[in-house]
Amino acid sequence: MMSIGKATAVSCANIAFIKYWGNSNPQLRLPANGSISMNLDRLVTHTTVHFTPDLRSDTLNLNGRTLIGAQLSRVSDLLERVRRMASIDLSAEVVSENNFPTGSGIASSASAFSALALAAAAAAGLTLSEQELSMLARTGSGSACRSVPGGFVEWKPGTTHLSSYAFSIAPPDHWELVDCVAIVSREHKVTGSTSGHSLADTSPLQAARVEDTPRRIEICRRALLARDFEAFAAIVEADSNLMHAVMQTSTPALLYWLPATMAVMHAVQRWRALGTPVCYTIDAGPNIHVICEAGSAERVEADLRKIPGVIDVLTAQPGGPARLVRSPA
Ligand code: PMV
Repeated sequence: MMSIGKATAVSCANIAFIKYWGNSNPQLRLPANGSISMNLDRLVTHTTVHFTPDLRSDTLNLNGRTLIGAQLSRVSDLLERVRRMASIDLSAEVVSENNFPTGSGIASSASAFSALALAAAAAAGLTLSEQELSMLARTGSGSACRSVPGGFVEWKPGTTHLSSYAFSIAPPDHWELVDCVAIVSREHKVTGSTSGHSLADTSPLQAARVEDTPRRIEICRRALLARDFEAFAAIVEADSNLMHAVMQTSTPALLYWLPATMAVMHAVQRWRALGTPVCYTIDAGPNIHVICEAGSAERVEADLRKIPGVIDVLTAQPGGPARLVRSPA
């Protein structure tokens, strides 16, 4: 039994194969375009939310550190939505922990806001559908809406709060893909995605990228459903390159790649030309996700570790949906 007012949820990070970049509505985090992703089973956030009369304002503890300021307000904004939905007026204690190394350069906002949405809704006594939870998570971090459902996931962009949510297109066991994340920097990124999204429209390439998205989504969805790695690799790399072309031509320009990022890009293309089913995709940072089929994962991981500038490699397979777990006593 979950104690009244308190709940714990766990949620996976996700990697986008067709990327979200730019908002049509920044307040509601409605995306400029649809996207497709895979949950990452070994990269998870655990979050406990406790609504209690003992507090006068919300508190946030992340990986053992108390946070205030902008990070706390972003969490409080989501809690405020939940309080309004549940008609409650209590502040909450939020304790959150990522199982992946802090400062590894792996984005944690998707798993964080997905786990927060589920834990907060349950702690407030709300019973929300997966769709409603996905919408709620989206308001904290766009990509978090994709961590609510399990496996391979599509986010329909929508034009309103109620029409923008993610859903599974295939369960985790549909395709044994492995994401080998090559860590090339542990530094905090200079421009985070929230401010990055607002620069997208300053690139003359963004309109063309957005207009072409339904085509890329269709190709990616078909390739995933058919487990056609060749078609999948081509569209995943093209989509990542397209997003980085927008980033690099924004004002100010965002150049996330480091020399080691490019060394991995070249290596991956070489390995594929030699017959290994492998491709890369890069988010708003220098670390690079190398996707392959399970049969090649061990060799890909070992070969990545040999590339100068690669500090570490984390691996993950398709993960399940966000779920509630028993609250710690
Ligand atoms: O959810 P946000 O605001 O952190 O944006 C995520 C943006 C990318 O990671 C670059 C792409 C994506 O679709 O995940």
